[in-house]
Amino acid sequence: MSKLAIKGGVQCVPKKYQNFKHPKITKDFFKRLQDEKFQNEICSFDSPVVSDFQEEAKKLFNLKHVLPTNSGTSALFEMFYALGLEPGDEVIVPSYTFFATGTPLFVLKCIPVLVDATDNGNIDPKDIERKITTKTKAIVITHMWGIPCDMDEIIKISKKYKVPILEDASHAHGATYKGRVIGTFGVCSAWSLGAKKLITGGQGGMLGTNNKEIYQKAVLFGHANNKRIKEITIKNLLPYSVSGTGLNLRIHPFSAGVITEQMKEYPKQMRERQEVADYLISEIEKIPGSGLPRIPKGSNPSWYGFPIFFDTDFFKGVDKETFVSALNAEGATSFDVPHTTSPLTEYPVFNERGVFFERIKEIKKYYQKGDFKQTELFNKRVFKLTLWYGDNRMNYAKYHILALQKVIKNIGELR
Ligand SMILES: Cc1ncc(COP(=O)(O)O)c(C=O)c1O
Repeated sequence: MSKLAIKGGVQCVPKKYQNFKHPKITKDFFKRLQDEKFQNEICSFDSPVVSDFQEEAKKLFNLKHVLPTNSGTSALFEMFYALGLEPGDEVIVPSYTFFATGTPLFVLKCIPVLVDATDNGNIDPKDIERKITTKTKAIVITHMWGIPCDMDEIIKISKKYKVPILEDASHAHGATYKGRVIGTFGVCSAWSLGAKKLITGGQGGMLGTNNKEIYQKAVLFGHANNKRIKEITIKNLLPYSVSGTGLNLRIHPFSAGVITEQMKEYPKQMRERQEVADYLISEIEKIPGSGLPRIPKGSNPSWYGFPIFFDTDFFKGVDKETFVSALNAEGATSFDVPHTTSPLTEYPVFNERGVFFERIKEIKKYYQKGDFKQTELFNKRVFKLTLWYGDNRMNYAKYHILALQKVIKNIGELR
């Protein structure tokens, strides 16, 4: 008789630890929704709900300026615009990231120059240096799954070639590197606060910077309204302050309210996730056939995802998808294969001269699957867990480890 649930055996995770809810929208927030003052506030252009978001984010992430946006993609778009990139400029982009880290560059007619990953999936500083040319105007980095990039090396390169760093901090809310908060290393950072991100409004994002000019240009790019107009003080930007450039990338105040609630709880959540991560690391190190990516010295990940390596040699004859399906069938539903984040070379916009971007004559090189060895290897081996917080966090963790041990012990049933 089969032991594994996928083959008809008994599930090892009790039902109550199979469905972790995130985000948790508090009763206080529902009470606030019924409050008349709040209902008036969410309809106003000058919504104090959005200002609360800004103040909370500045405190939490140690930023001078925060601009809430309707998505992380919008924040990336306005970050590139506000830096002053021009058509034909080259921008270094990791080959392993979510595609929106690079795709807004096409709209600005700039050229994403892809760079390979290092052993932990983050951008490889050595490959950044190989790809820098006189046309390189920025280096975009993503702290994948919340693990900080190798910042000492990246800062050295940025200083040597006088090319600014831009951060995609979408996965790394609250992560630190040598005591400094992720999102404060670049001249500007873009954050997704949408979907299942650590802090999420369903849809939402923000731009963060300590640079007044970048902030004001971003405001003009997609945030013209009565309140924002007051923030434009730079003389040559003033004439644009009524219309902006014509886009509307503002956050919905409802989503801003949901996000602000979560920010207040976030430091506690981070501590709880770290406790879970410490336990998982100690257990996974003992389990044959699985491994963990390198965490740079002195860094504290945010654990948006907890990446685990699947040893393809050890599991010969079983593919990663089947293995993760077997874990899910045990009720260990927090394991998954990150399908929406693949090497950028797999997307037509990066790998062929598609109809959308024919106008970018400067793009001489399109990429092909297999161009980036380390990115491919990381993507082939990685599966991940989303981590739990709250009172039952350690029970979720223990049952997910039990499921991992059970599937590995009975791996023969999957061959
Ligand atoms: C690393 C990264 N950057 C950018 C984005 C885009 O954010 P959004 O979906 O909020 O536009 C995502 C979304 O998953 C992401 O993971």
